[in-house]
Amino acid sequence: ELHPILLCGGSGTRLWPLSRKSFPKQFVPLTGETTLFQAAAARMAGTPGVAAPVVVTNSDFRFIVTEQLAHAGIDPGAVLIEPSPRNTAPAILAAALQLLASDPGALMLVMPTDHEIPDREAFRAAVAAGMPQAQAGRIVTFGIRPDRPETGYGWLELSALPESGRAQPLVRFVEKPCAERAAAMLAEGRYLWNAGIFLMSAAALKAAFEAHAPELLAPVAEAVREARADLGFLRLAAGPWEKARDISVDFAVMERADNLDVVPFDGAWSDLGDWNAVWRAAEVQGLATHGAVTTMDCSGSLIWSETEAMHVMGIGLSDTVVVAMPDAVLVADRSRTQEVKEAVAALKQRG
Ligand code: GDD
Ligand code: MG
Repeated sequence: ELHPILLCGGSGTRLWPLSRKSFPKQFVPLTGETTLFQAAAARMAGTPGVAAPVVVTNSDFRFIVTEQLAHAGIDPGAVLIEPSPRNTAPAILAAALQLLASDPGALMLVMPTDHEIPDREAFRAAVAAGMPQAQAGRIVTFGIRPDRPETGYGWLELSALPESGRAQPLVRFVEKPCAERAAAMLAEGRYLWNAGIFLMSAAALKAAFEAHAPELLAPVAEAVREARADLGFLRLAAGPWEKARDISVDFAVMERADNLDVVPFDGAWSDLGDWNAVWRAAEVQGLATHGAVTTMDCSGSLIWSETEAMHVMGIGLSDTVVVAMPDAVLVADRSRTQEVKEAVAALKQRG
């Protein structure tokens, strides 16, 4: 059976100061009544051969998760609770080991829950195109045609020009390249962006961890083995979990594995992951504003006020992001909004 794995434990700090631990974007209805999380949960629901989704999240989000699933009429197969965030590698490995305990032949479709993929049928067709590969023990990624030298994504190198809807072997996985490398890959033409969605058997994923990140296996396996059921949630054991390294699945496994295939996906896809992406989605003639904002001669900029009590005025700004909250203001070069994550980490360390 194919088990959708819904990841929703990210802290979303790249959208600081708007997105905080308590205000994750995937649970907020952006358009209409559905949230990005509900849309992700519904993406494969009702398809033959697809099991109930497994959610991997943290303690703070557990009731939002169950409430939003209930609203969408979807029963979760399991809700795993991480004692602390350890990024995507431990989260995905925990889901795989949990599935393997009851279904040795389990297939998994790992999906972020903060993406917008409006064309459900196109997505299902892409998943179907990758199923034979996944059943054969390959790890299938989904590739998006790039239109800019994005440094916030993973890039997938193909052996030939991408053919829509057909799985092709992957030559190399390059996670979050520097700007020069991203520009070179864009110009080259044989590269797609990694959509952040993975399809494979739980056994193949476990084997990839054994080969490329073996140090994660013992702590995560122990956290799963000693997990405690709590009101329908499954709490991973904190002691062993804390020993797992904080690392993304892209760096831990995908960059190193040699059994990857890619299915090019031509449907619309977006990850509003940082302020530059928000600017791109909202800009009109280069300028995007929100709330109590006045601008004069500004270009290529995003100016956002989250509070009526604070008027923000921009004069002569170019390629700048300003986000004003009652208790914090971000001012950044628009080309460097990926670094907000590191800056917030540094801020936290200072306490
Ligand atoms: N459960 C859980 N626990 N989920 C997590 C954790 C965690 O510790 N950390 C992140 N997530 C969730 C996020 O909420 C998001 O839905 C998903 O995992 C991906 O994490 P991001 O932090 O948003 O990753 P990224 O955007 O930097 O990079 C990934 O996605 C890109 C496309 O959007 C990579 O896979 C890139 O290669 C890819 O291009
Ligand atoms: Mg993301």
